[in-house]
Amino acid sequence: MSLYSKNSQLNILVIFSILILVGSLSLPIAESRNVQILKRKTTIDYPAISCRKHTAVLTEFGGVGDGKTLNTKAFQSAIANLSQHASDGGAQLIVPPGKWLTGSFNLTSHFTLFLQEGAVLLASQNEADFPIIDILPSYGREQNFSDGRYASLIIGMNLTDVVITGNNGTIDGQGAPWWEKYKKGLFKATRPFLIEILHTSQLQISNITLTNSPSWHVHPIYCSNVVIEGVTILAPVEVPNTDGINPDSCTNVRIEDVYIVSGDDCIAIKSGWDQYGIKYGMPTQHLVIRRLTCISPDSATIALGSEMSGGIQDVRAEDITAINTQSAVRIKTAPGRGGYIKDIFVRRMTLKTMKYVFWVSGAYKTHVDNGYDPNALAEINNINYRDIVAENVNITGSLSGFEKDPFTGFCISNATITLSETAKKVQWNCTYIEGVSNNVTPKPCDLLPQKDTRCSFPEDKLPIETVPMKTCSFKKLFL
Ligand SMILES: *[C@@H]1O[C@H](CO)[C@@H](O)[C@H](O)[C@H]1NC(C)=O
Ligand SMILES: *[C@@H]1O[C@H](CO)[C@@H](O)[C@H](O)[C@H]1NC(C)=O
Ligand SMILES: *[C@@H]1O[C@H](CO)[C@@H](O)[C@H](O)[C@H]1NC(C)=O
Ligand SMILES: *[C@@H]1O[C@H](CO)[C@@H](O)[C@H](O)[C@H]1NC(C)=O
Ligand SMILES: *[C@@H]1O[C@H](CO)[C@@H](O)[C@H](O)[C@H]1NC(C)=O
Ligand SMILES: *[C@@H]1O[C@H](CO)[C@@H](O)[C@H](O)[C@H]1NC(C)=O
Ligand SMILES: *[C@@H]1O[C@H](CO)[C@@H](O)[C@H](O)[C@H]1NC(C)=O
Ligand SMILES: *[C@@H]1O[C@H](CO)[C@@H](O)[C@H](O)[C@H]1NC(C)=O
Ligand SMILES: *[C@@H]1O[C@H](CO)[C@@H](O)[C@H](O)[C@H]1NC(C)=O
Repeated sequence: MSLYSKNSQLNILVIFSILILVGSLSLPIAESRNVQILKRKTTIDYPAISCRKHTAVLTEFGGVGDGKTLNTKAFQSAIANLSQHASDGGAQLIVPPGKWLTGSFNLTSHFTLFLQEGAVLLASQNEADFPIIDILPSYGREQNFSDGRYASLIIGMNLTDVVITGNNGTIDGQGAPWWEKYKKGLFKATRPFLIEILHTSQLQISNITLTNSPSWHVHPIYCSNVVIEGVTILAPVEVPNTDGINPDSCTNVRIEDVYIVSGDDCIAIKSGWDQYGIKYGMPTQHLVIRRLTCISPDSATIALGSEMSGGIQDVRAEDITAINTQSAVRIKTAPGRGGYIKDIFVRRMTLKTMKYVFWVSGAYKTHVDNGYDPNALAEINNINYRDIVAENVNITGSLSGFEKDPFTGFCISNATITLSETAKKVQWNCTYIEGVSNNVTPKPCDLLPQKDTRCSFPEDKLPIETVPMKTCSFKKLFL
């Protein structure tokens, strides 16, 4: 069956019914309406931060969507070719329905990668298709791996105005051999991510499905003005480090309408590691997360840290749902990290089947190397949680700061936690923290005394929340 026959049948049906419908109207109106309907049905429309003047299809560059032919060269030459249009209205590369096997490739500026419905990018399982690239300056030696790190499947480096979108097309990392080899401790380099975008401003990732990454799924690092929305991320819950989205040393980020099932944190907010992150000094700040649904039995819905040495500030999370997940919005740091986590606002969480609701720890003791300063202690302050309903919970709150440097400014209000049959006797365990609570059950620890307050959530909107979206399109018949 031709790839478009279903749609063409639909088109004919629609046009036919419209013709009958408008039969009673005068001819010129009917004609103009037909032209409009035809136009609508032969183009694909999509919302994006910028539209493109030039369009190309992967097959023009030798792409073969049979699931077996390697398309790395097709992607690389298509993008090299389309980069010529960066200063002339930009370009969009359409990936049609099919299975497109590929190794790592780089994106370009003023560029859109569009995955049509039924388009699946399959990541090669051959390590040689992922070159070894430079370590990240804010992380030092990548997780102690002497050989550095593998390039991600899709890389964007030092770009402006990049869109990865589609009609829910899929990028499948085919991570199984990577997970197995990692579990056996056989790697000398850090596994590839599915998408990594560095030093880029104006980034949109939307309306796609990402699955089975060898490691993290989406890693924007040193970026600004990032919109991630309508993204589904699916990985087996038992595989290592398959984090969903990791905003890392980024400013002005909006993550909305995402559904994540993962073997690690659904979203992990980071900003570099120990002395390397402190030196690089680039925080993650002004981040909005909204309408996230998470399933992650061994990790957090949203983790702040543990690599947070450049600082994390002004995070606003709302309308968060977690099911069968280890914790909700978790803070993790360790002596040596330095940095700060402050001005964190969380409201409207619905949690079902959780090990922890509130989990804050200063004892997440993994280090890049022994060069860290044990006296570099994070400042944790102004952490607000309100309007929370949780069911089937084992432990309500475990909050522990540093003896030499207590975590301050906690506020928890309007939280109703219902315990599981296996719930621990001690529901709250607080050490070296300061804060207040209001209308919280079960009754919080003494370090969170009752105060008649509603924990704050900013009233203003961040600029990234009001970024205008244009309606872009390309002609279906073009294919
Ligand atoms: C790439 O760009 C050049 C110059 O703009 C153009 O002439 C050529 O046809 C393009 N190549 C392909 C394979 O489309
Ligand atoms: C991507 O671009 C970077 C920086 O220019 C380069 O080092 C790297 O080799 C490129 N990777 C691929 C797969 O082309
Ligand atoms: C990208 O930008 C960073 C920061 O400005 C710079 O250090 C790095 O060399 C640039 N990389 C490339 C490949 O241009
Ligand atoms: C996109 O595809 C995924 C995987 O098939 C599916 O779970 C999800 O519901 C789809 N999303 C939309 C908006 O259609
Ligand atoms: C993209 O996803 C958003 C949010 O899920 C949805 O509102 C929108 O209709 C989708 N757009 C397309 C072109 O699929
Ligand atoms: C709650 O504790 C029980 C007993 O230890 C355990 O089996 C269960 O997995 C825990 N629930 C979660 C969500 O971790
Ligand atoms: C990195 O090396 C340090 C010191 O040798 C060690 O303590 C730490 O566990 C290592 N980290 C990882 C992730 O392997
Ligand atoms: C308490 O939280 C629940 C759940 O989010 C919400 O429905 C309710 O309106 C909140 N109550 C107040 C007084 O804000
Ligand atoms: C409470 O937390 C502290 C610090 O993390 C820990 O040492 C202690 O064992 C915990 N107590 C209980 C009863 O879980």
